[in-house]
Amino acid sequence: MNQKLRLLTPGPTQIPERVKNALARDMIHHRKSQFSEIYARMQPRLQALFGTRQTVLPLSCSGTGAMQAAVSNLFRPGEKVLVVEAGKFGERWRHIAASRGLEVVSLELDWGEAASPESVEDMLRLHPDARGLLVQASETSTGALHPIQDIGRLTRERDTLLVVDGISAVGVSPCPMDLWSIDCLLTGSQKGFMLPPGLALISLSPRAREKAEAIESDVYYFNLPGELTKSQQGQTLFTSPVNLIMGLDAALEIFFEAGPADIFRRQWAWTRLVRSGVRRLGLQPLVPESYTWGLTSIALPSGVNGGEVVSRIADRFNLFVAGGQDRLKGRIVRIGHMGDLDFADLLAGLYALRSVLSEMVALNEAPDYLEQAMQAFEQASAADMPQWAKTALEQGY
Ligand SMILES: Cc1ncc(COP(=O)(O)O)c(C=O)c1O
Repeated sequence: MNQKLRLLTPGPTQIPERVKNALARDMIHHRKSQFSEIYARMQPRLQALFGTRQTVLPLSCSGTGAMQAAVSNLFRPGEKVLVVEAGKFGERWRHIAASRGLEVVSLELDWGEAASPESVEDMLRLHPDARGLLVQASETSTGALHPIQDIGRLTRERDTLLVVDGISAVGVSPCPMDLWSIDCLLTGSQKGFMLPPGLALISLSPRAREKAEAIESDVYYFNLPGELTKSQQGQTLFTSPVNLIMGLDAALEIFFEAGPADIFRRQWAWTRLVRSGVRRLGLQPLVPESYTWGLTSIALPSGVNGGEVVSRIADRFNLFVAGGQDRLKGRIVRIGHMGDLDFADLLAGLYALRSVLSEMVALNEAPDYLEQAMQAFEQASAADMPQWAKTALEQGY
């Protein structure tokens, strides 16, 4: 049957028509005024989405490139950094930091766990010489949301830069950089921003910028002080991915027709929809409490092969979800709810999941699971978001 392709993966995500059209526009030159006008127009909107007064720099790379840029510009080889390692992307922080010659101390957590502020505080007390703390806001490999606000209260009192990978958080759930004392916040284009992959965004707090300037890093391509200087002309140091920048401009336009409050509410409502449907089927989300708003990881009953679930759903419904990575491979399915979606895409995702899983294992007899999911969606659309998010929204954007 000819069915619409649905991408419920946690990045890349579906792209709105208006963004696709912008991506297909005629080429413009990155050193001419047409480009700098777009750059200048985007800047206040990017700052608003990052919750910062600082410049937000575009980098031509995927999200990992921005992680590399942060580490190379903010730390000297030999310095000590702490890493919150609770999944594949926490592990990536460790690898990048080690490749820069940093001394890395990890807070190792179970995959699926969110860090507790107490454990981070203990680690900071134990390592007063740590010059940085590297963490994900949302650990996409598990679906856990780390308490960045609490961590920021701890690091701002110390000579420890808080570097946050917000790749599946910026534009998805509140993560206001200035209010939460984040020293470096970065993201990628292919998730909440509803763009193809290939563009990253990064911003530095004043003290992070000072450090980057003092270090005079030997890094040539991802030189953030150089990019900051160049940004004053509305340009990037090297040739920009011009189409992605035009796409970003269009995506920001869509965002700001709604505004951050609506974006976050929509994300929250999608999250509630999926979690409620999953629970009604007798399945358990991998992360019980501190969960991200951009995806839901579902623990599979034993004996069910996650890879098989993902491929049967794709074959039968032309609908794409993700499996687990590394140690979670085969054990979870991840339904992404970022990008250009609506509730009906997510209902289709739940239906496809139930349909395929019920061939493999006995599920709850719950003929009303889609209704339950919709009820949760309606309630979350009308009611308040969690208090921490409301406060962040009121004060941070
Ligand atoms: C939290 C997080 N960090 C880092 C990355 C890596 O980003 P990229 O694949 O764009 O390099 C991802 C990608 O899924 C991610 O979700």
